[in-house]
Amino acid sequence: MKILTPFFVFFFLLLLLLLLPPSTSQTSYYVPVDNIAVNCGTKAITDTGDRKWIGDVATNYSPSEPPNTVNKSTFKSIISNTISDEIYRTVRLSRSPFTYSSPVTAGPKFIRLYFYPEKYEEFNRSDAFFTVQAAQFTLLKNFSAALVADFINKSVIPREFCIHIAGEAPKLNITFTPSPNSYAFVNGIEVVSMPENLYYSPAEQGTTTPIIGNNIALELYHRKNLGGDDIFPSQDSGMYRNWDGTNLHITTKRVIPIHNDSVSINYTTSTPNFTATDSVYQSALILGVNRTLNSKQNLSFQLPVDVGFNYLVRLHFCQILMDQFQGKQKIFTVFINNQNITTVDIDSINTPLYRDYNARPMAVGNTSAILVDLHPLPSETFDVILNGYEVFKQSNGTNLAVPNPVVALAPEIKRGAKNSNATAIIAAVCSSVGFAILSSIVGFVVIWKQSKKMRKRRKKKKKTREDKLLPERRCRIFTFEEICEATDYFSKERQIGVGGFGAVYKGIFEDEDDLTVAIKRLNPESNQGEQEFVTEIELLSELRHFNLVSLIGYCLENKEMLLVYEYMPNGTFKDHLYDTSNSLLSWRKRLEICVGAARGLDYLHSGFDRPIIHRDVKTTNILLDENWVARVSDFGMSKLGQTNTAVSTAVKGTWGYLDPEYHRRLKVTEKSDVFSFGVILFEVLCGRKPLDPLAGEEKFKLTLWAKKCLEKGNAYEIIDPHLKGKISCDCLKQYLELATTCINDHSKHRPRMEVVEEKLRFILKLQEEADGDCPDTELSYPEEPFSPIRSSGGSLRTESYKSHIATMLSGSDFTVSSLMSEEMLSEQSSGSMAYSRKT
Ligand SMILES: *[C@@H]1O[C@H](CO)[C@@H](O)[C@H](O)[C@H]1NC(C)=O
Ligand SMILES: *[C@@H]1O[C@H](CO)[C@@H](O)[C@H](O)[C@H]1NC(C)=O
Ligand SMILES: *[C@@H]1O[C@H](CO)[C@@H](O)[C@H](O)[C@H]1NC(C)=O
Ligand SMILES: *[C@@H]1O[C@H](CO)[C@@H](O)[C@H](O)[C@H]1NC(C)=O
Ligand SMILES: *[C@@H]1O[C@H](CO)[C@@H](O)[C@H](O)[C@H]1NC(C)=O
Ligand SMILES: *[C@@H]1O[C@H](CO)[C@@H](O)[C@H](O)[C@H]1NC(C)=O
Ligand SMILES: *[C@@H]1O[C@H](CO)[C@@H](O)[C@H](O)[C@H]1NC(C)=O
Ligand SMILES: *[C@@H]1O[C@H](CO)[C@@H](O)[C@H](O)[C@H]1NC(C)=O
Ligand SMILES: *[C@@H]1O[C@H](CO)[C@@H](O)[C@H](O)[C@H]1NC(C)=O
Ligand SMILES: *[C@@H]1O[C@H](CO)[C@@H](O)[C@H](O)[C@H]1NC(C)=O
Ligand SMILES: *[C@@H]1O[C@H](CO)[C@@H](O)[C@H](O)[C@H]1NC(C)=O
Ligand SMILES: *[C@@H]1O[C@H](CO)[C@@H](O)[C@H](O)[C@H]1NC(C)=O
Repeated sequence: MKILTPFFVFFFLLLLLLLLPPSTSQTSYYVPVDNIAVNCGTKAITDTGDRKWIGDVATNYSPSEPPNTVNKSTFKSIISNTISDEIYRTVRLSRSPFTYSSPVTAGPKFIRLYFYPEKYEEFNRSDAFFTVQAAQFTLLKNFSAALVADFINKSVIPREFCIHIAGEAPKLNITFTPSPNSYAFVNGIEVVSMPENLYYSPAEQGTTTPIIGNNIALELYHRKNLGGDDIFPSQDSGMYRNWDGTNLHITTKRVIPIHNDSVSINYTTSTPNFTATDSVYQSALILGVNRTLNSKQNLSFQLPVDVGFNYLVRLHFCQILMDQFQGKQKIFTVFINNQNITTVDIDSINTPLYRDYNARPMAVGNTSAILVDLHPLPSETFDVILNGYEVFKQSNGTNLAVPNPVVALAPEIKRGAKNSNATAIIAAVCSSVGFAILSSIVGFVVIWKQSKKMRKRRKKKKKTREDKLLPERRCRIFTFEEICEATDYFSKERQIGVGGFGAVYKGIFEDEDDLTVAIKRLNPESNQGEQEFVTEIELLSELRHFNLVSLIGYCLENKEMLLVYEYMPNGTFKDHLYDTSNSLLSWRKRLEICVGAARGLDYLHSGFDRPIIHRDVKTTNILLDENWVARVSDFGMSKLGQTNTAVSTAVKGTWGYLDPEYHRRLKVTEKSDVFSFGVILFEVLCGRKPLDPLAGEEKFKLTLWAKKCLEKGNAYEIIDPHLKGKISCDCLKQYLELATTCINDHSKHRPRMEVVEEKLRFILKLQEEADGDCPDTELSYPEEPFSPIRSSGGSLRTESYKSHIATMLSGSDFTVSSLMSEEMLSEQSSGSMAYSRKT
């Protein structure tokens, strides 16, 4: 045995070596000479992208105070527990100036600063105002991260700058100086080298416009990957840049995202392979294939910027091969701020190129922006293409700083981390699980293989796992044959539901690791043309959120219209509330699901320039994924010309959820969704249908019955018997108040979805605090006296049972529904869904 063991290990390693793909030449695009990442406040960490961050406590990167500092006392590191992202969790702060100093090589560098404005112990969130200087440049001046965060509705503020460092063995100092009576803080700092000619123009060359000389510092405003996904720092071409995959600034209503992952990009000497990562060039936005229409439109962007500076605008182009969009020659004019700047002619396939422009901001409304319009010129395809863009502010002298935005600060409370979504946590967990599995398989090979190679494999593993959670922001086209095979030729066994839109099947793609999906076969009555259908679908598939069921793709063949969605193994919310053989959900679980659903709806309402109204919010449209996370489904269907069928066949099912303002104003708003959501809140608490003809006259309509009970102070009468004793009195009071305001007759008295979500979060917290560590089965809260609840504002209408039945059974509801659909259709033709997401 003693002899065998080393031999066996050697043999095992040899075997693995043979099995692994040969380690060919280096596959990196660019390896930065300086690559410093400092997690301010405490210890070293490894981020979800496998990058090592060094700590700043007792390391080479510890900050120091200038020798003449007056008050040296409050030089602190603090851990925040309101955010999951490791970089932002710890902070370095001080009421006196401090400097991070590090030797670097000469040349252009990225400097990235990360801020999470928060109440850190006795340091109030709104009290931080400070100036940041790096080398001779002022990056930020009297900067309030809290004001900026509140202005852009984000919880964290990452900033990226570029500066060119000169000299022999230079030292880079980054100094944080608090304004009077303020403090300065920072959560993370990066210094990363970039290639000489990436953004800066080498002095001897200077042929590209504009010339970014070494005396200019840059600050990133926008960096977008169009038509594709977010590209995380670990996936960039070596410089840890983040490419945002959201379409924030498009002002053209109809654009088509395209992508082809299998094209290999042919880099050139003028566009070397570090310019952007492959994924940027493998996806793009185009206008489409309708020549008549294209000659009359632009692909337009409005890029918000600050006044008083010049900007570098870089546009990335690459003609990728796409069967259905003919990857042929494209010629188009680039307009910047309405000026005809250049004509771009792309005819070689898969060869990327970029163009840089110098631009000053224009006044647009009461903000300032740079306008970019691409206008098709006659060519083979009569189309335009744009794969990505970057916008940098150029320093004016040595200054990059702008004044703080004017905004009312949120009150000084411990704020939940709005952006630290569960995905980040889950991704982190998954990646470490993935790593554990992988490392146990790969074992000792680390010794033999380049660590770089390992990172690559690990990243790949992680990506596939993330994909399962959040599939790519892409719309796939399936063939009818594929769908037939996946659904066993639409067999009855595979049917998992029938909705107003048609039957839903469980589909399994055996060739793709048994990828399971839900396939919706639309009723053939749709009156929409194919091109329109495709455009609509492509746009719907852009709506991605952790709490929405994502559209994966579609099939349009043989007059069949099929939509392919993520499969939700735990079915509908309703299936776990009542009239079911499933075990019923606990109160806390129900609250968690409501929070998730509210968040999904809030995204639809406020994630875009114009709200997307769901129009059919109900417990059967809230699905549950494998982790019991709420996922809202069936949004956007009214745009697919399926409104008529939906409303007329679904009247009985969804009548109980309808906004009473339909009757008065025949108008659908976001507040209609809030009303329906309020009905859900009662359904969840009471464990019964919104309308139950068998419950008797008094209890027929859940909301009316509930309102009556609440007015009398009989709150406990309506509670689902399964929840009796499980709900703390505080929690119940808040919940009922929220539910009651949501179903207010007057939409103006109902809260916005965002408020509903926040309130629900708070309610969940109340319950969690009350429960402590007590297991659900052992909870037993006593019933406390309840003061009557009245919905504030509007009067409670006392609609009688008879009039309801009458409306339901007479033809009048069909009048309502047909009016409704007319209204919806007219809204549709005026384009109620703008897909440009707001910043
Ligand atoms: C990028 O280009 C450089 C130089 O042209 C080359 O050495 C390197 O292998 C290329 N990297 C990749 C991933 O193609
Ligand atoms: C130093 O602390 C003293 C007392 O706390 C204060 O009055 C003074 O303004 C501080 N000086 C600076 C530069 O912050
Ligand atoms: C922080 O804000 C709270 C509430 O506004 C205030 O009571 C407190 O005095 C502030 N603390 C400091 C150190 O300014
Ligand atoms: C810093 O900014 C705040 C708000 O934007 C302003 O009230 C304050 O006067 C500024 N302080 C300095 C020193 O400019
Ligand atoms: C932030 O949210 C507020 C209120 O919801 C809204 O008025 C404002 O336009 C939003 N700001 C941005 C930049 O999206
Ligand atoms: C950088 O900071 C260190 C220590 O604070 C100081 O000794 C040095 O002179 C500074 N260098 C420059 C170029 O400012
Ligand atoms: C890439 O470029 C090479 C030489 O320039 C050419 O032979 C090849 O066909 C190109 N590949 C693609 C996919 O366009
Ligand atoms: C192109 O768009 C125009 C205007 O919407 C429409 O009339 C025409 O039928 C479309 N052509 C094709 C080929 O889809
Ligand atoms: C630089 O700032 C000065 C003073 O604020 C201003 O007059 C000038 O127009 C700015 N230059 C540029 C290029 O924006
Ligand atoms: C993607 O590109 C590959 C290779 O360049 C090509 O064979 C394939 O047809 C393209 N896919 C689509 C959907 O156009
Ligand atoms: C396209 O943009 C240019 C520049 O803004 C503008 O002059 C032109 O009218 C636009 N064309 C259309 C069809 O909107
Ligand atoms: C823009 O200018 C170029 C060259 O002057 C011209 O060929 C092109 O037609 C112009 N584009 C438009 C849309 O007018």
